[in-house]
Amino acid sequence: MGLVKQTLSGVFGKAERVFEYAFGQRNNPFTWLGALGWYFYWITAATGIYLYIFFDTGIVEAFASVEYMTNDQWYAAGIMRSLHRYASDALVVVVILHLLREFAMDRLRGKHFFAWLTGVPLLAFIYICGISGYWLVWDKLAQYIAVATTEWLDTLPFFAEPIANNFLNSTTLGGRFFTLMVLIHIFAPLFMLLLMWVHVQRHSGARVNPPRSLAIGTLAVMTALSLVYPAVSQGPADLDTVPAVVSLDWFYLAGYPLLDVIPGGQLWLYVVIGFVSFALLPWLPPEKTAPVARVSLPNCNGCSRCFDDCPFSALTMVPRSDGRPYEAEPIVNADNCTSCGICAGSCPTSTPFRRAGPIEPGIELPDRTIGALREQVMAPLPCADGKPRVIVFACDHSNAELLDGDGVRVIKLPCLGMLPPSFIDYSLSRRFADGVLLAGCAENDCYHRLGNEWTMRRLARERDPHLRQRVPMDRVRLAFLPAGAHRRRAKALDEFRSALGEVVDE
Ligand code: HEM
Ligand code: SF4
Ligand code: SF4
Repeated sequence: MGLVKQTLSGVFGKAERVFEYAFGQRNNPFTWLGALGWYFYWITAATGIYLYIFFDTGIVEAFASVEYMTNDQWYAAGIMRSLHRYASDALVVVVILHLLREFAMDRLRGKHFFAWLTGVPLLAFIYICGISGYWLVWDKLAQYIAVATTEWLDTLPFFAEPIANNFLNSTTLGGRFFTLMVLIHIFAPLFMLLLMWVHVQRHSGARVNPPRSLAIGTLAVMTALSLVYPAVSQGPADLDTVPAVVSLDWFYLAGYPLLDVIPGGQLWLYVVIGFVSFALLPWLPPEKTAPVARVSLPNCNGCSRCFDDCPFSALTMVPRSDGRPYEAEPIVNADNCTSCGICAGSCPTSTPFRRAGPIEPGIELPDRTIGALREQVMAPLPCADGKPRVIVFACDHSNAELLDGDGVRVIKLPCLGMLPPSFIDYSLSRRFADGVLLAGCAENDCYHRLGNEWTMRRLARERDPHLRQRVPMDRVRLAFLPAGAHRRRAKALDEFRSALGEVVDE
């Protein structure tokens, strides 16, 4: 499994690099796949509502009403039809990439399992919505889908009468089944929306909107495509003849040719086994979970910064229980806590200054304490060649330990968001180092979702706890890069040390 993930992550790394050149790190579509999924869902829903105004739900009239939209009203309903088609195709593409990428980044195991598990039925719903949509056009493709799907469903022992009998010839066809498909095509997307909401319930402030430029750009491309290659039907369905050739939409219907080669019952078995194994991936192999965050009430003033910063909705503020004159205290929900340590980075009591004795902040990770972090900072950092000495605070998801060497100490944290800004001040003002490099995940792509964003905003003094004004910013540098970008990280360190050389000489 590890090898598959590694290979996939290498492929994504290369593809993302190309996109980063074209779009920049902030707008790289690979870092917005989940949000693009939401966006394409909304386009599909909005265009679907528009189409429904002109769509005739009678089985005889359906095809004619779609033809009217496509040909007579090509400039409005026709474009809407094409946008509906292309946005739903784009939804499949981004969701498949999204799940492959989450898998490659290993963001599905341990406490992350929830989004994966709720994603599995979402995938099935995307296909139910898409296939029922093709059915409604009632053209030759719809006829092929209707016959193939019902014959496949009939291999299940659930139906008293074979449902494929509805499609034997034009005299057996009733409107009942068609109405059922219309209802499925309306209610399945509504249920899917509910599942999408559940899917992000463990993410506080989930990123469900892509940046404006990406949203406008993708809509413009799909509109242009709609004008150049409008979605069209494939001739009216005629149950008295078998359609000789139909062209399939490979995004939704790629599995249909399998029905010609694999017996229906066997295919059901493969589908069920496929979905169950897919749903079990978060536990293959099970992840050894790290201890969750621990609150120390005597050191907590109830400021709720930890609650505001936790990316996984793992903290709740409840009325104070220890009689001290504060309103609230945080409690940790161990099921949600991913042990990212971001809460410790946001706590005002996580400061290396002031105390001579051991530090115990209001909240921290029991196995990676703020006290231990201070000891790592304070350890002597020799440099034989006289170059500026640098402390690199790096997250576990970069391979920054490779930078460790003469005059360079790499201090690993579960997430860069665990670093209280006062540690940067402490490292420089107490001369433990000449410069501080912060090596985190790529922008918008933090493994723990919000760690690098909070770090940037704390450094920019936009979010508590602020970096103090007195810290010379020419001695602090950010290197937010994808996990595998070791050469770029090493180059960033070299350039920083050279620049520091000039600052130190001044
Ligand atoms: C309509 C389909 C889907 C949409 C719109 C969607 C959207 C999203 C969004 C917005 C996020 C949160 C991103 C963030 O704020 O950091 C997310 C996370 C995630 N999704 Fe999906 N998703 C979909 C389908 C799937 C599927 C099919 C799977 C896999 C089976 C999946 C697995 C995940 C995982 C593993 C995460 C990250 C969990 C974590 O960081 O703890 N998603 N998704
Ligand atoms: S360690 Fe991370 S997930 Fe757990 S409570 Fe703190 S911020 Fe939330
Ligand atoms: S940030 Fe620290 S002081 Fe504030 S509520 Fe959380 S634990 Fe308490």
